[in-house]
Amino acid sequence: MVSLSQVDTVTVLGAGSMGHGIAEVSAIAGYDVVLRDIEDEYVQNGYDQLEWSVKKLAEKGQLSDSPEEILARVETTTDLEAAVSGADIVIEAAPENLGLKRDIFSEVEAFASDETIIATNTSSLRVSDIAAEVALPRRCCGLHFFNPPVKMDLVEVVYGEKTTEDVAETAYEFAESLDKTPIYVQKDVPEFVVNNVLTPFMEEAGWMLDDGTATVESVDATMVYERGYPMGPCELNDFGGLDILAHTRDQWDRPIPESIRDRVEADKLGRKTGAGFYDYDDGPGVDYG
Ligand code: 3HC
Repeated sequence: MVSLSQVDTVTVLGAGSMGHGIAEVSAIAGYDVVLRDIEDEYVQNGYDQLEWSVKKLAEKGQLSDSPEEILARVETTTDLEAAVSGADIVIEAAPENLGLKRDIFSEVEAFASDETIIATNTSSLRVSDIAAEVALPRRCCGLHFFNPPVKMDLVEVVYGEKTTEDVAETAYEFAESLDKTPIYVQKDVPEFVVNNVLTPFMEEAGWMLDDGTATVESVDATMVYERGYPMGPCELNDFGGLDILAHTRDQWDRPIPESIRDRVEADKLGRKTGAGFYDYDDGPGVDYG
């Protein structure tokens, strides 16, 4: 399997908020990047956000290369074979659907070299389940970034049941080369370490809203002002998307608070739809009062 010194090309499958962010940090670190999605429109949206972010970081003097140099390292495509045939590491960042991710892993395996590391950015599924149908599951692992990847330091490097040491080590060193702080997760459990802690925190706010213990503003204010968190749980739900949390809970057949379910049904999914726990149409949305 490839070692870090052999990694030149990183392919990211899925140009959504995680995918384009992972592509961005890889290009900033100097890798050649291929960003692939299934429709031109999705790839273009992802690329536009990546471009916006790179230019923003450059304005603030936070990059050593120019935006032009970084953007020149990013290629976009909808062609899966072209995207993965020259890749040293493939990172899948598709929606959280086990069947879909399994299919993607099998398709990648059909086109990629046997030396290519195939990683998933899944946030809630087991790596071993996603890799269950590939011929070489030893080269599959989790590389779980956090939103937004360009600002969040942590990366979970997850061992599937069949992941070999050399693969996990290269994935770990790769995350370090992006200037991230990786941790190994050796037990392949749904939601790994971070989301097993973070999701109940985000969900608990919803239960307290349901029974009237707290308001959106009061629960967020406690975490921001008392704990020093950058966002309270309601704002963080809006940031990531209420539909994402609801989908994860539904997937594991767990109940979710009405305050979250009702908003999802009303298409109030958070920042991306202009409203969630807060309204974003006229500005940042958050006022803890
Ligand atoms: N790229 C470039 N610039 C960006 C940016 C991005 N992606 N996002 C924000 N900025 C810019 C803003 O435009 C702003 O620029 P300006 O000063 O010119 O207006 C500047 O950065 C400052 O932005 P903010 O005031 O919004 O605040 P910070 O930069 O201090 O922090 C944050 C933003 C990092 C998002 C912070 O609010 C935070 O850490 N929030 C919590 C995020 C978190 O917990 N993420 C994990 C979620 S769970 C997860 O990801 C699990 C997974 O499985 C889904």
